[in-house]
Amino acid sequence: MNPAIISMRGLRKSYGVGTPVETEVLHGIDLELAEGEFCALIGPSGSGKSTLLNLIGLLEPATSGELVVAGQSTTGMNEQALTVLRGRHIGFVFQFHHLLPAFTALENVMMPSIIEQGVATAEAEAIALDLLLRVGLRGHEYKKANQMSGGQQQRVAIARALSRSPRLILADEPTGNLDTHTADDIFALLREFNRERGSACLIVTHDPRLAARCDRRIELVDGRLASPASPAMPQPA
Ligand SMILES: Nc1ncnc2c1ncn2[C@@H]1O[C@H](COP(=O)(O)OP(=O)(O)OP(=O)(O)O)[C@@H](O)[C@H]1O
Ligand SMILES: [Mg+2]
Repeated sequence: MNPAIISMRGLRKSYGVGTPVETEVLHGIDLELAEGEFCALIGPSGSGKSTLLNLIGLLEPATSGELVVAGQSTTGMNEQALTVLRGRHIGFVFQFHHLLPAFTALENVMMPSIIEQGVATAEAEAIALDLLLRVGLRGHEYKKANQMSGGQQQRVAIARALSRSPRLILADEPTGNLDTHTADDIFALLREFNRERGSACLIVTHDPRLAARCDRRIELVDGRLASPASPAMPQPA
């Protein structure tokens, strides 16, 4: 097995800490995700999938427990160090793509580089243009995000997530609001980049068909793993 890109021990998350409505929603998760693994995160609504993704993506702090990302323990890390770690290794794709509507597809894909470097470098632009071709958006590079279809916008979001070749892609229901055909295309794209670049993927999905096509399924029920972090299951041919 490859080394772990993500490793956690006893990870807990509570909301409303210190208030009368304090609720624990993740009750001590032990989990490892190997470099290059292509994994589905499944479970009923409210079971904690998005919460877990937000913790792994360093968007929210855990209440307790240990989380190691790309070999670095994140316990006690300050906001700036977390931002660097996130920017260097993690790409996000959300159900509602969070593109900047008034910017072009190209600008949206380049946004992480623009934010990080302050300017759009020629290299960042070349990478972004190449990715837009790869996700099937030739000819749409200069279209504004709000003039594109849902499926096209999700392709832009994937290109953006990949713009810095992350070692880990976190996707929260990336195909949730798309028709079956478009959902299959988007899923295939994630799989393609996973095989080609070795980016590990953790994909939240309610679609059993798509989950069955992942190398491994991790199931959350009421904030706990349903079965011990399951070994990889054989892939259908
Ligand atoms: N910011 C928050 N404040 C308080 N409670 C929250 C917050 N975010 C999530 N929760 C609660 O945590 C639990 C897990 O929510 P989460 O969004 O992780 O579920 P999920 O598995 O992603 O569900 P879905 O499949 O519907 O997206 C739910 O009970 C939810 O109400
Ligand atoms: Mg969710």
